[in-house]
Amino acid sequence: METMHAVRGHRRGGPERLRYEVAPRPAPGAGEVLVEVRSASITPGELDWDATWTDSLDSGGALRLPIVPSKELSGVVARVGADVTGWQEGDDVFGLIPFTCDGAAADFTAVPAGVLAPKPPELDYDQAAALPLSGLTAWQALVRHGGLREGQRVLVHGGAGGVGCCAVQIAAALGATVAATASAQDTAFVRELGAERVVDYANERFEEQLADMDLVLDTVGGDTQTRSWQVLSPGGTLVSVASPPAAEGPGGARGVFFVVEPDRGDLDELSRLVTAGRLTPLVARVVPLSEAGAAYTALDQPHRRGKTVLKVS
Ligand SMILES: NC(=O)c1ccc[n+]([C@@H]2O[C@H](COP(=O)([O-])OP(=O)(O)OC[C@H]3O[C@@H](n4cnc5c(N)ncnc54)[C@H](OP(=O)(O)O)[C@@H]3O)[C@@H](O)[C@H]2O)c1
Repeated sequence: METMHAVRGHRRGGPERLRYEVAPRPAPGAGEVLVEVRSASITPGELDWDATWTDSLDSGGALRLPIVPSKELSGVVARVGADVTGWQEGDDVFGLIPFTCDGAAADFTAVPAGVLAPKPPELDYDQAAALPLSGLTAWQALVRHGGLREGQRVLVHGGAGGVGCCAVQIAAALGATVAATASAQDTAFVRELGAERVVDYANERFEEQLADMDLVLDTVGGDTQTRSWQVLSPGGTLVSVASPPAAEGPGGARGVFFVVEPDRGDLDELSRLVTAGRLTPLVARVVPLSEAGAAYTALDQPHRRGKTVLKVS
């Protein structure tokens, strides 16, 4: 049996359950590609998601143990399975792994061929691994669910976070006028990303500063989400990736919650923005794969800018 190093969870729980250990190397099934992982990224809340531990996005799915966490990767194609066209050994790739599949915190991972896209050559492996989940979430929130059009006004909550910093850049690149909320220490940085107005969420009430938004992207939830209805223009849209909002708000505003989906076409759109110099994924920290447990724990600390990346090989 061929082996590899991997981070695995043998019982459902938090970072304390994760072990860095020797594990069997997966083989690509039909329609799959075996990727030699270079870098993998981790996300706040990931170890609480049902899909990380079971075969379902919702509660009640069957446990699949042991699991490998981390849903986004960059790396090199090591082998292609049967019925796979378009990929060959040595291709540089990046992508988002379906949430109910084993992840990328390992030397190798076998993933459906359709979730991968060519790694943008402008990005190194760490940057490329920082893009898929945050970038796809931001793209799908703004474009697919928010219907963002040039000239519209957008508010992005958590503009310095993983999703938020992609959303600010993408919205600006699509010709929107962008406002954001962020910590005081991040306001200048979020302006540099493309926000014309940044509200310090701890010291100011954004609903007293902003109005007439066509779209609000909520990455925070709770009270921030509830207060967001007040800044929407009639018929505007509140898209949340944090928790489901009401389906309808004042003035015919619409509330939407969604879970990001792997999508090759959307990854290609992100790559085009990267190549055009309009989108740069943000790497907050790079840590060795063997320290993944501590890296998950550290996600609870505030004021990270962007993603935490596991350096695999
Ligand atoms: N539904 C989906 O498909 C989907 C996809 C991706 C992520 N998510 C979820 O979306 C959330 C955000 O993910 P992420 O990776 O962007 O997290 P993150 O990197 O931790 O970013 C969150 C940002 O929100 C800021 N923030 C905290 N409290 C705030 C407040 N009251 N008002 C405004 N900003 C505030 C934080 O700033 P400070 O650190 O300075 O306080 C931070 O910059 C997580 O819950 C994640 O699980 C969902």
